Amino acid sequence: MAKMEVKTSLLDYMIGVGDMVLLEPLNEDSFINNLKKRFDHNEVYTYIGSVVISINPYRPLPIYTPEKVEEYRNRNFYELSPHIFALSDEAYRSLRDQDKDQCILITGESGAGKTEASKFVMSYVAAVCGKGAEVNQVKEQLLQSNPVLEAFGNAKTVRNDNSSRFGKYMDIEFDFKGDPLGGVISNYLLEKSRVVKQPRGERNFHIFYQILSGASEDFLCKLKLERDFSRYNYLGLDSAKVNGVDDAANFRTVRNAMQIVGFMDHETQSVFEVVAAVLKLGNIEFKPESRVNGLDESKIKDKNELKEICELTGIDQSVLERAFSFRTVEAKQEKVSTTLNVAQAYYARDALAKNLYSRLFSWLVTRINESIKAQTKVRKKVMGVLDIYGFEIFEDNSFEQFIINYCNEKLQQIFIELTLKEEQEEYIREGIEWTHIEYFNNAIICDLIENNQTGILAMLDEECLRPGTVTDDTFLEKLNQVCATHQHFESRMSKCSRFLNDTTLPHSCFRIQHYAGKVMYQVEGFVDKNNDLLYRDLSQAMWKASHSLIKALFPEGNPAKINLKRPPTAGSQFKASVATLMKNLQTKNPNYIRCIKPNDKKAAHIFNDALVCHQIRYLGLLENVRVRRAGYAFRQAYEPCLERYKMLCKQTWPHWRGPARAGVEVLFNELEIPEEEFSFGRSKIFIRNPRTQQKKYQKIRSSAVIIQSYIRGWKARKLLRELKHQKRCNEAATIIAAYWHGTQARRELKRLKEEARRKHAVAVIWAYWLGLKVRREYRKFFRANAGRKIYEFTLQRLMQKYFLEMKNKMPSLSPIDKNWPARPYLFLDSTHKELKRIFHLWRCKKYRDQFTDQQKLIYEEKLEASELFKDKKALYPASVGQPFQGAYLEISKNPKYKKLKDAVDEKIIIAEVVNKINRANGKATSRIFLLTKNNVLLADQKSGNIKSEVPLGDVTKVSMSSQNDGFFAVHLKEGSGAASKGDFLFSSDHLIEMATKLYRTTLSQTKQKLNIEISDEFLVQFRQDKVCVKFIQGSQKNGNIPTCKRKNNRLLEVAVP
Ligand SMILES: Nc1ncnc2c1ncn2[C@@H]1O[C@H](COP(=O)(O)OP(=O)(O)O)[C@@H](O)[C@H]1O
Ligand SMILES: [Mg+2]
Repeated sequence: MAKMEVKTSLLDYMIGVGDMVLLEPLNEDSFINNLKKRFDHNEVYTYIGSVVISINPYRPLPIYTPEKVEEYRNRNFYELSPHIFALSDEAYRSLRDQDKDQCILITGESGAGKTEASKFVMSYVAAVCGKGAEVNQVKEQLLQSNPVLEAFGNAKTVRNDNSSRFGKYMDIEFDFKGDPLGGVISNYLLEKSRVVKQPRGERNFHIFYQILSGASEDFLCKLKLERDFSRYNYLGLDSAKVNGVDDAANFRTVRNAMQIVGFMDHETQSVFEVVAAVLKLGNIEFKPESRVNGLDESKIKDKNELKEICELTGIDQSVLERAFSFRTVEAKQEKVSTTLNVAQAYYARDALAKNLYSRLFSWLVTRINESIKAQTKVRKKVMGVLDIYGFEIFEDNSFEQFIINYCNEKLQQIFIELTLKEEQEEYIREGIEWTHIEYFNNAIICDLIENNQTGILAMLDEECLRPGTVTDDTFLEKLNQVCATHQHFESRMSKCSRFLNDTTLPHSCFRIQHYAGKVMYQVEGFVDKNNDLLYRDLSQAMWKASHSLIKALFPEGNPAKINLKRPPTAGSQFKASVATLMKNLQTKNPNYIRCIKPNDKKAAHIFNDALVCHQIRYLGLLENVRVRRAGYAFRQAYEPCLERYKMLCKQTWPHWRGPARAGVEVLFNELEIPEEEFSFGRSKIFIRNPRTQQKKYQKIRSSAVIIQSYIRGWKARKLLRELKHQKRCNEAATIIAAYWHGTQARRELKRLKEEARRKHAVAVIWAYWLGLKVRREYRKFFRANAGRKIYEFTLQRLMQKYFLEMKNKMPSLSPIDKNWPARPYLFLDSTHKELKRIFHLWRCKKYRDQFTDQQKLIYEEKLEASELFKDKKALYPASVGQPFQGAYLEISKNPKYKKLKDAVDEKIIIAEVVNKINRANGKATSRIFLLTKNNVLLADQKSGNIKSEVPLGDVTKVSMSSQNDGFFAVHLKEGSGAASKGDFLFSSDHLIEMATKLYRTTLSQTKQKLNIEISDEFLVQFRQDKVCVKFIQGSQKNGNIPTCKRKNNRLLEVAVP
């Protein structure tokens, strides 16, 4: 018992409340305290209904092992403690079994753990979905796309050492069985400004550092690169190395991943050439050169770098050089060339680097998609995983933050829509009434940004496209005119002078009250970044490259395809792609993971209340709980509900036979839960007040406490001894008081007063408290000793295990197989025997069932023979192996017997030559013995003439000895026609068969059971005489053949050897 591992959540100690819906009382403090308490005990996941809150532990936890995957696989959502795997499992199963497309929406601030979460979801799904070589390759490619995209799209920021600088949405596609087929990745707005400049303490994209650290000398030489980071202007130096990150090793991982995903060697090579070119572009420097017209013209300082770039990319050096000095503007057939000054040249250089890199990134995504796309046209089920940049508030917020935060507004919007929608639909599905609840709807902020006429993005586009001088300031002026009265827009310049005197708001800024907080945006750069202009001379230079990848990245550089229309602005492109994303998400069943950052230091074990509080507030998590509780706070399908709580009611424990819903009704009656507290839906029970649910939890706990009290005494004392010396004793004493509210303590105290003194009693109370506290750590130990209930529970488990194991150990189906597995547990003895009996009967039946009707008849006869003769007649065992053939003599085939055949027109059951014993002298003569449906006939063996004919109705009895001989007497009815000469005495090798057939035929014809007498002495009637036939032990001189002698008129002796 002690060794046995019993898996049950029965006594699982839930730290705090696992589902916030059950939290009482519900307010911000209790919410945060609950999260904190759980976080302190390494419980980083907590539910709000089906939403998972995840707090970044900032250190590896052992909760993502393959064992954990198995634990959560195919389990009910609320059955185990909250986990991201539970959500993944739920999503995957409803995709597979209910055919509902899913999306996993992961939101949270930068560094809150979104990307890690998305990887856990993907690896969980990969672990539980289909198996096989082909499927595994698909999985591998899907998973390996991550390291590639992370190398090119992630960077160290102040918030996160591995921050995703792009948004990612990945559709994983499955076939009808739930096996993965492939995937499609969409990327959103790479933060390309990082390529040329990084904020203090941050790095450029990982790949640059990885190449320089990890590539071989040879490879670096090919790329015309040097290992030294400081050689490159684009690499910020203040944090080139990141603690705990091995760039060189990661480079190998990335190359390996590229290979698995399916990049050809020449493609990989091209990719790195582009990366090298970008890095080297940063080293091109310009100097002013005065021209005749008095203006400064920019010239490249040192052409060596330019030369190498051109060699790498196959661009004509003079073409590129010219593109850095001149700008051609084309309008309506007119070409005007202007020179660039130094500032413009640097602008052009950086624009080229940013464009090269971001286009390369998009190309990578497209290339990966080509590899991982499903190779089939069949209908697919889809699971989308969205890991998109979180809400960002920096000191300086620019266009990028504005766009990112807009995206988060949209996600919040969809969260509001989908959670409420989903909630409402569930009530309708289950046939339950629904009441409306108020919540803050951020649609108004979305409108401020995206409205087609008056939205900020529309204003920005209008400004960018307008003729005349356009600057960031004119843009801000425009905003001030149009948005001034908007509740969520703030600006110093706005006419509505609410903020005229607000010095925290500089003149070059505007502020938006996002749902997640106020953010101040610097307008500087908005116009430029939205325009996202690359001088045409540069794109044409790129298109002319002989490097096929670079050429492909700049299709608009093809002079044949000159398009005078402006490309869409960055803002409107983003708005459109976000709109597509939202549309896509709306068609799917949403699953939410809300990531929370516990501190700003990337540190383990630190839980900053204020920081968490802020996130909870803007994520609207409390409202989320309230919405969930407005109707019915808790719901659960009937089956798992009954399974979990059945031990609380006699009728349902240990087994409830009948529908689960009825069981739950009985259970709720027993628990005396008021009717208005719950409602029966079609497939689920809905519980209104979280306390009801808690009451059930507590009931379980309190029964556990009773059980535990048996062992609590000694355990508490033991623990006291161990813990007495610890400082925590004092603190513990205070908590006892709170926990037990004195009552328990006083009762114990009183009892103990009598046997020990007060001091001793206090110690025991301590011990009780410590027992409670330490029980958690010693849970396993508890289980082993916890009384009857656990014992019963254990038996159930053992029995279950026993049956499951028996399933695999069943012996063969042969009815003569004597094997039967050993009994594993003594208490299952009778069950084991009964099971053996049932199994044997069953397999015998199986065996019989395969017989044809004819075979069945034969076995029936054999069975009859055994019933009649087994253990009664010594001849019987020899007959068992002989098939009963009946017609040994083939009357119809032998022409000699034609007459006989004609005389008998019934079906012949027996035709056999027997010895008929002469009544007078005991000598034997051969006779043909025929048994038909109605008669016994005797005929001459030579002529075939019928000598006697006895209707079966006249046969009264058959007698025989118990010995090994074939003698038998056929007794006839007195006074019947055939009886005139008296009874017959025969001998035959097939006595058993003949007697059996005679018995069966008589029974079926006359419905009488033929009397069969087995005795070594019996009387026969010979004419008037009653003669005794007596069987004696004879000598062996005649061999094995018995001899028969008429001794006198009263006795016939048969000597059996
Ligand atoms: N569940 C987790 N377990 C351990 N560490 C984590 C977990 N989630 C996040 N982290 C740590 O936090 C860092 C930031 O997480 P990440 O997912 O990149 O944040 P986000 O994508 O939200 O910006 C990770 O690099 C990792 O070190
Ligand atoms: Mg991320």
